[in-house]
Amino acid sequence: MSTGESTVGSAGFVRVASLGELEEDTPKRVEVEGVPVSLVRTGGEVFAINDICSHANVSLSEGEVEDCHIECWLHGSSFDLRTGKPDGPPATRPVPVYPVKIEGDGPDAAVLVSTTQES
Ligand code: FES
Repeated sequence: MSTGESTVGSAGFVRVASLGELEEDTPKRVEVEGVPVSLVRTGGEVFAINDICSHANVSLSEGEVEDCHIECWLHGSSFDLRTGKPDGPPATRPVPVYPVKIEGDGPDAAVLVSTTQES
């Protein structure tokens, strides 16, 4: 773990939120170095997935989260938050997912994302 207050850490990790800002199963859209990212806290973990559906230019953070998937509200493809892969059509291509680090404890813990590497 590093010192926590820097905005850009090792391997391009950027602080995007504090843990307390993320409501369970409620996606939060953030920008990480110009990349739109949907942050999802679910099941005790935080995931970062590119916010744009691979089927059309639609924001995934406006969709529903269920069972570690985020559903595109427009046509219903559901993307696995761990891999970015769609479970079914119409989307056929995965959406990039990114590594997340949590630094600190409690609601003030820093949530960091790196979009320079896909996880
Ligand atoms: S725009 Fe997302 S499934 Fe069609």
